[in-house]
Amino acid sequence: MPGLSSNQPSSTVVAFAEFLASQGFLPPKRVVDIGCGVGRNSMYLAGLGFEVHAMDYIRQAVSSLAEKAGAGGLREMVNVIEAPIDSTWPFAGGFFDAAVDCFSSIDIETLSGRQVCRGEMFRTLKPGGYAMVAVVSSSDEFEREMSVRSPGAEKNSVIWPNGKFQKNYVKGELEGFYSCFKILRLFEVKKPAYKLGRHYTATNLVCYLRKE
Ligand SMILES: C[S@@+](CC[C@H](N)C(=O)[O-])C[C@H]1O[C@@H](n2cnc3c(N)ncnc32)[C@H](O)[C@@H]1O
Repeated sequence: MPGLSSNQPSSTVVAFAEFLASQGFLPPKRVVDIGCGVGRNSMYLAGLGFEVHAMDYIRQAVSSLAEKAGAGGLREMVNVIEAPIDSTWPFAGGFFDAAVDCFSSIDIETLSGRQVCRGEMFRTLKPGGYAMVAVVSSSDEFEREMSVRSPGAEKNSVIWPNGKFQKNYVKGELEGFYSCFKILRLFEVKKPAYKLGRHYTATNLVCYLRKE
Protein backbone atom coordinates (compact mmCIF):
# COMPACT_ATOMS: atom_id res chain seq x y z
CA MET A 1 0.00 0.00 0.00
CA PRO A 2 2.04 2.98 -1.21
CA GLY A 3 1.90 6.15 0.89
CA LEU A 4 2.50 4.69 4.35
CA SER A 5 4.33 7.00 6.72
CA SER A 6 7.75 5.51 7.48
CA ASN A 7 8.19 6.72 11.06
CA GLN A 8 4.93 6.92 12.96
CA PRO A 9 3.51 3.55 14.02
CA SER A 10 0.22 2.53 12.48
CA SER A 11 -2.69 3.59 14.68
CA THR A 12 -3.96 0.00 14.34
CA VAL A 13 -0.79 -1.31 16.00
CA VAL A 14 -0.95 1.33 18.74
CA ALA A 15 -4.56 0.30 19.45
CA PHE A 16 -3.61 -3.39 19.41
CA ALA A 17 -0.81 -2.79 21.95
CA GLU A 18 -3.38 -1.05 24.16
CA PHE A 19 -5.72 -4.00 23.71
CA LEU A 20 -2.92 -6.41 24.69
CA ALA A 21 -2.20 -4.33 27.80
CA SER A 22 -5.92 -4.44 28.68
CA GLN A 23 -5.66 -8.25 28.58
CA GLY A 24 -2.72 -8.10 30.99
CA PHE A 25 -0.47 -9.02 28.09
CA LEU A 26 2.53 -6.80 28.76
CA PRO A 27 6.16 -6.60 27.64
CA PRO A 28 8.52 -8.35 27.63
CA LYS A 29 6.80 -10.68 25.20
CA ARG A 30 7.91 -11.93 21.81
CA VAL A 31 6.18 -10.40 18.79
CA VAL A 32 6.58 -11.06 15.07
CA ASP A 33 6.13 -8.08 12.72
CA ILE A 34 5.05 -9.78 9.49
CA GLY A 35 6.24 -7.79 6.46
CA CYS A 36 7.80 -5.11 8.65
CA GLY A 37 8.83 -2.74 5.84
CA VAL A 38 11.17 -0.09 7.24
CA GLY A 39 9.88 -0.94 10.68
CA ARG A 40 7.62 1.83 11.95
CA ASN A 41 5.68 -0.75 13.98
CA SER A 42 8.73 -2.80 15.03
CA MET A 43 10.39 0.32 16.45
CA TYR A 44 7.22 1.24 18.32
CA LEU A 45 6.75 -2.25 19.79
CA ALA A 46 10.44 -2.54 20.73
CA GLY A 47 10.17 0.88 22.37
CA LEU A 48 7.35 -0.52 24.53
CA GLY A 49 9.71 -3.30 25.61
CA PHE A 50 8.58 -6.15 23.34
CA GLU A 51 11.16 -8.49 21.82
CA VAL A 52 10.45 -7.96 18.13
CA HIS A 53 11.23 -10.28 15.23
CA ALA A 54 10.76 -8.31 12.04
CA MET A 55 10.44 -10.12 8.70
CA ASP A 56 10.48 -8.71 5.20
CA TYR A 57 11.92 -9.89 1.90
CA ILE A 58 13.21 -6.45 0.92
CA ARG A 59 16.84 -6.23 2.00
CA GLN A 60 16.89 -2.44 1.96
CA ALA A 61 13.89 -2.32 4.30
CA VAL A 62 15.28 -4.70 6.91
CA SER A 63 18.73 -3.04 6.74
CA SER A 64 17.15 0.34 7.28
CA LEU A 65 15.24 -1.03 10.28
CA ALA A 66 18.41 -2.58 11.73
CA GLU A 67 20.16 0.79 11.41
CA LYS A 68 17.28 2.67 13.01
CA ALA A 69 17.08 0.16 15.86
CA GLY A 70 20.83 0.56 16.43
CA ALA A 71 20.63 4.35 16.38
CA GLY A 72 17.66 4.27 18.75
CA GLY A 73 19.40 1.98 21.25
CA LEU A 74 16.95 -0.82 20.43
CA ARG A 75 19.19 -3.16 18.43
CA GLU A 76 18.95 -5.93 21.00
CA MET A 77 15.16 -5.68 21.01
CA VAL A 78 14.76 -6.04 17.23
CA ASN A 79 15.80 -9.15 15.34
CA VAL A 80 15.56 -8.41 11.61
CA ILE A 81 15.06 -11.29 9.21
CA GLU A 82 15.28 -10.95 5.46
CA ALA A 83 12.81 -13.66 4.45
CA PRO A 84 9.58 -14.21 2.55
CA ILE A 85 6.43 -14.35 4.65
CA ASP A 86 4.73 -16.72 2.19
CA SER A 87 7.15 -19.63 2.75
CA THR A 88 7.97 -21.55 5.92
CA TRP A 89 9.23 -19.11 8.56
CA PRO A 90 12.56 -19.75 10.28
CA PHE A 91 10.99 -20.11 13.73
CA ALA A 92 9.92 -23.07 15.82
CA GLY A 93 6.25 -23.71 16.52
CA GLY A 94 4.86 -21.74 19.45
CA PHE A 95 7.77 -19.27 19.42
CA PHE A 96 5.74 -16.04 19.49
CA ASP A 97 3.38 -14.53 22.02
CA ALA A 98 1.85 -12.18 19.47
CA ALA A 99 1.85 -11.35 15.76
CA VAL A 100 1.18 -8.22 13.77
CA ASP A 101 0.30 -8.26 10.06
CA CYS A 102 -0.16 -4.59 9.27
CA PHE A 103 -1.17 -4.35 5.58
CA SER A 104 1.48 -6.92 4.61
CA SER A 105 -0.11 -10.24 3.63
CA ILE A 106 -2.48 -8.27 1.37
CA ASP A 107 0.57 -7.88 -0.91
CA ILE A 108 0.97 -11.64 -1.42
CA GLU A 109 -0.16 -12.35 -4.94
CA THR A 110 -1.62 -15.83 -4.54
CA LEU A 111 -4.25 -17.30 -2.27
CA SER A 112 -1.92 -20.25 -1.60
CA GLY A 113 0.83 -17.80 -0.53
CA ARG A 114 -1.56 -16.03 1.84
CA GLN A 115 -2.65 -19.39 3.20
CA VAL A 116 1.00 -20.28 3.91
CA CYS A 117 1.48 -16.93 5.68
CA ARG A 118 -1.66 -17.47 7.78
CA GLY A 119 -0.57 -21.05 8.55
CA GLU A 120 2.88 -19.89 9.65
CA MET A 121 1.34 -17.21 11.85
CA PHE A 122 -0.82 -19.91 13.45
CA ARG A 123 2.03 -22.44 13.81
CA THR A 124 4.53 -20.03 15.33
CA LEU A 125 2.08 -18.51 17.86
CA LYS A 126 1.82 -20.01 21.31
CA PRO A 127 -1.60 -21.34 22.30
CA GLY A 128 -3.31 -18.32 23.84
CA GLY A 129 -1.20 -16.00 21.67
CA TYR A 130 -2.75 -12.96 20.00
CA ALA A 131 -2.58 -11.64 16.45
CA MET A 132 -3.69 -8.47 14.71
CA VAL A 133 -4.34 -8.37 10.99
CA ALA A 134 -5.04 -5.08 9.20
CA VAL A 135 -6.29 -5.10 5.61
CA VAL A 136 -7.93 -2.70 3.20
CA SER A 137 -11.70 -2.99 2.90
CA SER A 138 -13.27 -3.64 -0.50
CA SER A 139 -15.69 -0.86 0.35
CA ASP A 140 -12.84 1.68 0.50
CA GLU A 141 -13.84 4.43 -1.92
CA PHE A 142 -10.45 4.56 -3.67
CA GLU A 143 -10.11 0.78 -3.94
CA ARG A 144 -13.63 0.50 -5.37
CA GLU A 145 -12.58 2.78 -8.21
CA MET A 146 -9.34 0.83 -8.65
CA SER A 147 -11.22 -2.46 -8.81
CA VAL A 148 -13.15 -1.12 -11.81
CA ARG A 149 -10.17 0.52 -13.53
CA SER A 150 -7.56 -2.08 -12.72
CA PRO A 151 -8.92 -5.27 -11.20
CA GLY A 152 -6.69 -8.20 -10.24
CA ALA A 153 -7.56 -11.70 -11.41
CA GLU A 154 -8.78 -12.66 -7.95
CA LYS A 155 -12.04 -11.45 -6.43
CA ASN A 156 -11.63 -8.17 -4.50
CA SER A 157 -8.09 -7.60 -5.70
CA VAL A 158 -6.53 -4.67 -7.55
CA ILE A 159 -3.36 -3.93 -9.48
CA TRP A 160 -1.75 -0.61 -8.63
CA PRO A 161 -0.31 1.57 -11.44
CA ASN A 162 3.17 0.37 -10.40
CA GLY A 163 2.03 -3.19 -11.10
CA LYS A 164 1.72 -4.20 -7.46
CA PHE A 165 -1.04 -6.63 -6.52
CA GLN A 166 -3.26 -5.99 -3.50
CA LYS A 167 -5.90 -8.24 -1.99
CA ASN A 168 -8.80 -6.40 -0.39
CA TYR A 169 -11.50 -7.97 1.77
CA VAL A 170 -15.12 -7.86 2.71
CA LYS A 171 -15.78 -8.66 6.38
CA GLY A 172 -17.21 -12.15 5.85
CA GLU A 173 -14.31 -13.21 3.67
CA LEU A 174 -11.77 -12.05 6.27
CA GLU A 175 -13.71 -13.85 8.98
CA GLY A 176 -13.72 -17.05 6.94
CA PHE A 177 -10.04 -16.79 6.08
CA TYR A 178 -8.96 -16.54 9.72
CA SER A 179 -11.48 -19.03 11.11
CA CYS A 180 -8.68 -21.33 12.39
CA PHE A 181 -8.25 -18.64 15.08
CA LYS A 182 -10.79 -17.42 17.57
CA ILE A 183 -11.87 -14.05 16.20
CA LEU A 184 -12.03 -11.70 19.15
CA ARG A 185 -12.83 -8.52 17.23
CA LEU A 186 -13.40 -7.61 13.60
CA PHE A 187 -14.08 -3.97 12.95
CA GLU A 188 -13.90 -1.23 10.34
CA VAL A 189 -11.56 1.72 10.75
CA LYS A 190 -11.94 4.93 8.77
CA LYS A 191 -9.05 7.35 8.68
CA PRO A 192 -7.53 10.12 6.58
CA ALA A 193 -5.23 8.73 3.90
CA TYR A 194 -3.22 9.80 0.89
CA LYS A 195 -3.02 7.61 -2.17
CA LEU A 196 -1.72 8.45 -5.65
CA GLY A 197 -1.83 12.18 -5.04
CA ARG A 198 -5.26 12.22 -3.45
CA HIS A 199 -6.37 12.87 0.12
CA TYR A 200 -9.46 10.92 1.14
CA THR A 201 -10.96 8.83 3.95
CA ALA A 202 -9.68 5.25 3.82
CA THR A 203 -11.71 2.27 5.02
CA ASN A 204 -9.75 -0.59 6.55
CA LEU A 205 -10.68 -3.77 8.37
CA VAL A 206 -8.90 -4.91 11.50
CA CYS A 207 -9.07 -8.33 13.11
CA TYR A 208 -7.90 -9.35 16.59
CA LEU A 209 -7.30 -13.09 16.75
CA ARG A 210 -6.32 -15.61 19.38
CA LYS A 211 -4.87 -19.05 18.87
CA GLU A 212 -6.95 -21.31 21.14
C1 LIG B 1 2.26 -2.06 2.74
S1 LIG B 1 3.80 -2.52 3.37
C2 LIG B 1 3.49 -2.54 5.13
C3 LIG B 1 4.75 -2.48 5.93
C4 LIG B 1 4.55 -2.48 7.45
N1 LIG B 1 3.80 -3.62 7.89
C5 LIG B 1 3.90 -1.20 7.90
O1 LIG B 1 2.77 -1.23 8.39
O2 LIG B 1 4.54 -0.15 7.77
C6 LIG B 1 3.85 -4.27 3.02
C7 LIG B 1 5.16 -4.91 3.38
O3 LIG B 1 5.05 -6.32 3.22
C8 LIG B 1 6.22 -6.79 2.61
N2 LIG B 1 5.92 -8.03 1.87
C9 LIG B 1 4.96 -8.19 0.93
N3 LIG B 1 4.97 -9.45 0.46
C10 LIG B 1 5.97 -10.07 1.12
C11 LIG B 1 6.50 -11.40 1.07
N4 LIG B 1 5.98 -12.31 0.24
N5 LIG B 1 7.52 -11.71 1.89
C12 LIG B 1 8.05 -10.78 2.73
N6 LIG B 1 7.60 -9.52 2.82
C13 LIG B 1 6.57 -9.17 2.03
C14 LIG B 1 6.64 -5.69 1.66
O4 LIG B 1 8.01 -5.77 1.33
C15 LIG B 1 6.31 -4.45 2.49
O5 LIG B 1 7.39 -4.04 3.27
